[in-house]
Amino acid sequence: MKKPLLSADQQQRVNELVTTMTLAQKIGQMTQTERMAINPEQLKAYHIGSVLSGGGSCPGDNTVAEWVEMNDDYWAASMESDDDHLAIPLIYGIDAIHGNNNIKGATVFPHNIGLGASNDPDLIQRIAEVTAREILATGVEWTFAPTLAVARDSRWGRTYESYSEDPEIVTRYSARFVEGLQGNLGTDSVVACVKHWVGDGGTTNGIDQGETTLSREELERLHMAAYFPALDAGVLTVMVSFNSWQGDKCHGHKYLLTDVLKNELEFDGYVISDWDGIDYLSDYYYDAVAMGVNAGIDMFMVSENWQPFIQHLTQHVENGTVSVDRIDDAVSRILSVKLAYGLFEKPRPKDRHWSNHSSFGSVEHRNVAREAVQKSLVLLKNTEQLLPLDKQTKLFVAGKNAHNRGHQCGGFTIAWQGTSGNDFILGGTSIWEGIKTVAPNATLSATENGTDADPSQHDIAIVVVGETPYAEGMGDIRDGDDIVIQAGSQINGSLKVLEAYGSSLELAKLHPEDLETITTIVAKGIPVIAVLISGRPLLINPELDASSAFVAAWLPGSEGQGIADVLFGDIPFSGKLSFSWPDGRSKNADKPLNRGDKEYNPLFPYGYGLTY
Ligand code: GLC
Repeated sequence: MKKPLLSADQQQRVNELVTTMTLAQKIGQMTQTERMAINPEQLKAYHIGSVLSGGGSCPGDNTVAEWVEMNDDYWAASMESDDDHLAIPLIYGIDAIHGNNNIKGATVFPHNIGLGASNDPDLIQRIAEVTAREILATGVEWTFAPTLAVARDSRWGRTYESYSEDPEIVTRYSARFVEGLQGNLGTDSVVACVKHWVGDGGTTNGIDQGETTLSREELERLHMAAYFPALDAGVLTVMVSFNSWQGDKCHGHKYLLTDVLKNELEFDGYVISDWDGIDYLSDYYYDAVAMGVNAGIDMFMVSENWQPFIQHLTQHVENGTVSVDRIDDAVSRILSVKLAYGLFEKPRPKDRHWSNHSSFGSVEHRNVAREAVQKSLVLLKNTEQLLPLDKQTKLFVAGKNAHNRGHQCGGFTIAWQGTSGNDFILGGTSIWEGIKTVAPNATLSATENGTDADPSQHDIAIVVVGETPYAEGMGDIRDGDDIVIQAGSQINGSLKVLEAYGSSLELAKLHPEDLETITTIVAKGIPVIAVLISGRPLLINPELDASSAFVAAWLPGSEGQGIADVLFGDIPFSGKLSFSWPDGRSKNADKPLNRGDKEYNPLFPYGYGLTY
């Protein structure tokens, strides 16, 4: 049985605060704005309760010190009480979903799909603990993580944010990651946020923000189950999902947000919307505001137009279309979380223990990420036993992802859509840099596409192939935008359809340069070890057939060295697929394929992974 969030005294303090607050102060607490849309003076004037950074939204040169300074300014404004403003500490939120990934020099962990393959809950907790410290180093208190999506269709652009297609692993991880972040809600802790409630990974055709058509039982079995341990572990916030369920948007779904999450599951923290997530509820923003509040959302992530939001909600309370009780419930929840987290007692950001801490991006932290990389790799093929490699081998390294720390980190890294090249990812190692460190006779192709391979110089080639970074809808695979409508997204108003990543899961169609590189080198009599950088299983039959060995490396993050550790046998392969790998030669290749399907014909099944 979960212990109550607050002591009796704390509850009393919340009740007293709520009774003394003006409507403007209450509605301000319910408002979260993006940092670029508000300055400290406005934050105080409108009593704003939270600020966030969207992906890639960073102060100045994106240094740790500038983050601390920014947060300190916002916090100071929130605590400057006067006749009009009541001192209630601001809480700053960020997408630190694989380390504190926005900030230059941070330790960047493998994305969740790789962590699912490592199948190591203890490691997951350690990753969360390190992530919490690197978040605190920047003066931030809250991360929108962990994602508990169960991705059922790899065409979804957010598949890599999911630990697995099956709730089994996600359920084993959820509470551990929350405990790693929130700990004892003390100096080493940040506030966690499980997301996206509910059914984000189950949309038709894998359309991001689309329609999830499932029975209530299936919705619970697949997409709610992983939340239960996290709620029992006392996660303090839940983020609403963009998708619709049975045709109704989650952001307006009173049954899902209030009846199930708050009443049935007794969630006592607060519910935050996703980015402008109520906009889709109606063609009229005024109506959308009431729909979101009355459905049970407590805090609203309103990226820019926070002033109309405040005006509309104030109007609704005055008109009685939103009750004062609902407002008081939302504000009580927000204050309860801030109180439970000790935010009222914490010193200002610049005076906190971890702010500007030297452990940010430290070797100690990076070694945890390196271990995660080692454990995430899945060996799919090694027929000629080329692996493990001898460190003296005359190696030829090629492929667009061989020396590109940006590509190996994937989306939600420095920028929302990720980056390319090595300049933006400070610290860490590319895959090539990791190989070069241990293999003195390795050379990097000058052309990436392997035309300079020379059988008189090179005995074996490592070709690093795969996807380039993407995030959310821009990672979707769609063979036409008409299917977005078929997905029944129930989107009112203008449909913001982001450009898709491609129209097929076939690697040879998405990136033909990869098969070209492999075959060019093989034609010279040099066997190839292929390493795939991807946010999901792809259709790789031709590349697999042309290669002598094949490794799924997912999106390993900043510590590419971890891949060399395993390729040269210092660490054995241990990763097992947490996603079924489809066979490009099967008739339903581009369709969802999941463990337990009646017709289950994967190229490599869930749980597959070779070892040395
Ligand atoms: C995005 C994502 C959500 C993220 C939020 C803030 O649209 O859906 O996962 O936490 O906005 O960046």
